Amino acid sequence: MNSKLIAPSILAADFANLQRDIDMVNQSEADWFHIDIMDGVFVPNISFGMPVLKAISKHAHKTIDVHLMIVDPDRYIKTFAELGSNILTVHYESCTHLHRTLQAIKAEGMKAGVAINPHTNVALLEDTITDIDLVCIMSVNPGFGGQQFIENTYNKITQLKALIDRKGASTQIEIDGGVTNKNAKALVDAGADVLVAGSYVFKSDNPKDTIAHLKSLVNS
Ligand code: DX5
Ligand code: ZN
Repeated sequence: MNSKLIAPSILAADFANLQRDIDMVNQSEADWFHIDIMDGVFVPNISFGMPVLKAISKHAHKTIDVHLMIVDPDRYIKTFAELGSNILTVHYESCTHLHRTLQAIKAEGMKAGVAINPHTNVALLEDTITDIDLVCIMSVNPGFGGQQFIENTYNKITQLKALIDRKGASTQIEIDGGVTNKNAKALVDAGADVLVAGSYVFKSDNPKDTIAHLKSLVNS
């Protein structure tokens, strides 16, 4: 059963050949498009914004998983729904009223995700987990692709899985950062449902084959 998902991160695509790379993902065994939006304030980098997402949405034929690394995400929830986002993930660290933000995302017809930085304890999601469709555990400090995977991520997956089970929630666990063929299988064995992979996919010789390889590893 192919129940574990692969989400290539477009941050590592060739922006001068974006349609080519989107078509590659469409034709591949990938499940979702992972779209990283960075504002240069919440994280020390600026990626791309609305016009680029609009162009991606026009060509992408799979679930669009938007990861907002921005301050005050509430300001843009409606806009991201209009731009074709299916899942909207906000950072725990950037939401003063997380519960309200989650309801606002769902009210716009999207699934609601919460990303947690490497320093943020899983236990902080105790009171919101049943309202969260997806938790994105950051396995690098957000802001850049191509960083080294943080090993403590495995402990966080175990803790999160226990919390989800204890609360009877149906939340998916996504891992974002430093995912490769070396850790993919161990991550799903620990309890991950979705693996984001940027550099490992797009910097490989044959990204479509690399996606197929990851997909077979996580469902073996
Ligand atoms: C990091 C982003 C990631 C990034 C992953 O801030 O959220 O989605 O694109 O890239 P790799 O797979 O290269 O670590
Ligand atoms: Zn991301």
